[in-house]
Amino acid sequence: MTRTGSGPLSPDDLAAWYAVPPDRADGTWVRASFITTLDGRATGPDDVSGSLNAGSEGDHAVFEHLRDWADVVVVGAGTVRKERYGALQGTPLAVVSTRPEPPRSVLELQAGGGEVVLISGHGDRVSAAQVLAALHQRGWHRIVVEGGPTLFGTWLQECLVDELCVTVRPVLAGGDGPFLVPTTVTFGRLVGEPTHLLTWAGDVLVRTRLRQGTA
Ligand SMILES: NC(=O)c1ccc[n+]([C@@H]2O[C@H](COP(=O)([O-])OP(=O)(O)OC[C@H]3O[C@@H](n4cnc5c(N)ncnc54)[C@H](OP(=O)(O)O)[C@@H]3O)[C@@H](O)[C@H]2O)c1
Repeated sequence: MTRTGSGPLSPDDLAAWYAVPPDRADGTWVRASFITTLDGRATGPDDVSGSLNAGSEGDHAVFEHLRDWADVVVVGAGTVRKERYGALQGTPLAVVSTRPEPPRSVLELQAGGGEVVLISGHGDRVSAAQVLAALHQRGWHRIVVEGGPTLFGTWLQECLVDELCVTVRPVLAGGDGPFLVPTTVTFGRLVGEPTHLLTWAGDVLVRTRLRQGTA
């Protein structure tokens, strides 16, 4: 059943709305956290997501809640470069890259304090299963994947995302910015079951459980 409601929500309310299903509370739970336009774009006119989440109180609240909940935040090196990521407060950051040596952006992050680990494919792409195994080795099981779209596509294709937490902003982007999921990615075996829809100051916050379908 899809629960519906509206914000603003207090931190306690957020914890209740975003609680992990009881049967998975002690295991691994992978969440993907995104913001999108109505036409499915992951960036706004500034070519990053900043112009999308600017002024979205609900997106900021949920984004921070998910970071606080996570044992680790996973992000592609491309997003670190484009969005100029800083070290997170209290939550480790795992950066996925093909490069064997830490890119300059990762070195800068490490110098900025906070725990930052590079998960490198040593010249190749890293599968989501490999990333998960590396995170489990460190004892991290509550995982938030913040993208970008290229990294997210890998995790979707391997059906390793348990749920999607997406803020839909009521705007159109057009142009040639990236879609939330690259158009080259196919994942016909996934089906979504919305668990909640929240309206919050004009935005829609969707929480969708992803499962493998039979198709
Ligand atoms: N709307 C949102 O919520 C949201 C969220 C995140 C990002 N974005 C936007 O998305 C855009 C970036 O898109 P993107 O698709 O390029 O982001 P991305 O997936 O973070 O970056 C791609 C880069 O990340 C590394 N990477 C990703 N998947 C990998 C894998 N499986 N194995 C090894 N390395 C991997 C590679 O870095 P190397 O080149 O170092 O090997 C690759 O070149 C930016 O404009 C950003 O603002 C939007």
